Amino acid sequence: DPETAKLSCPATAAFIRSLPKERGWRTPFLYKYQNFWCQPREIQAIINLQTHFKAHRSDIIIATIPKSGTTWLKALLYATLNRGRYEIRGGGGFQSHPLLFSNSHDLVPFLEYKLYANGQIPDLGVFDSPRIFATHVPYPALPGSVKTSGAKVVYLCRNPLDTFISSWHFIKNVRHDSLGDFTMDRAFDMFCRGVVGFGPFWEHMLGYWKQSIANPNRVLFLKYEDMKDDVVPVIEKLAEFLGMGFSPEEEAAGVAAEIANLCSFETQKELEVNKTGKSISGFENWSLFRKGEVGDWVNHLSPEMGDKMRQVVVEKLAGSGLTF
Ligand code: A3P
Repeated sequence: DPETAKLSCPATAAFIRSLPKERGWRTPFLYKYQNFWCQPREIQAIINLQTHFKAHRSDIIIATIPKSGTTWLKALLYATLNRGRYEIRGGGGFQSHPLLFSNSHDLVPFLEYKLYANGQIPDLGVFDSPRIFATHVPYPALPGSVKTSGAKVVYLCRNPLDTFISSWHFIKNVRHDSLGDFTMDRAFDMFCRGVVGFGPFWEHMLGYWKQSIANPNRVLFLKYEDMKDDVVPVIEKLAEFLGMGFSPEEEAAGVAAEIANLCSFETQKELEVNKTGKSISGFENWSLFRKGEVGDWVNHLSPEMGDKMRQVVVEKLAGSGLTF
């Protein structure tokens, strides 16, 4: 596998080659590491993350499975947490806010794609407290200190049918031609079997779901569909969870609605930085803003495929209380 040959640590490369593998979505292979599927570069980063990361009690960790709304949640959390730093003038909104000039992935770094990428061990002392980081790593594989430090975790979950369609379009944009054809049928089959980055998706969701029930003050579980329905109450819930609920003055000034506008798909997609810029791992920012809708899967999957995936979802989530 040419991807393992590119890793900076030969011992890690050899270890990865010993793991179970399947054909990948945007790399030749995905490997099963600690019960989830991952690309070689990600595994190297996650091993370093697990070994070196020391969470602080004040840390906030955003966790998602890819294509479930990470870009949006990063923006919302950053804007909510830093709202005191950027004035709202005359109801005109956050006119000089960093989210108008930077993609949220550049304001809230991924642990495995940025800070621990390419064999790096970052100096995390440079971050102001509270630090906000993001990850796609499933709950059981998070560094131990995240679980024991009292750090807060915000998980965002999305209907798997829409997540699949979002992933499918994203992969079409970023997959290298040399990897050969990758049909919708093949991707669909892999997704339903759980073979997708950081999947199986049901294990990913259930890991965080169970923790949010057992430790509601430490793990907040959000749904993309609820945010699309009305994001303002979700922003208020997020602020409460972070221990910084909106004051009566902020409520009167409509700060949560301003945050919603600043972070909305419509605002963010039209920004220059998101039309022409690049952020995480060299991805073009525009590719992170496709449609931003609930239920777009009906435009791409046959009714039979919809039934099949819904059946997988119902079966795998049965008894958990988590539904879509
Ligand atoms: P679609 O492909 O269905 O449009 P992630 O950020 O985890 O990569 O997820 C990407 C998905 O979130 C894409 O879904 C994208 O359009 C959507 N998205 C990005 N920014 C959004 C926003 N501000 N509001 C709603 N959805 C957003």
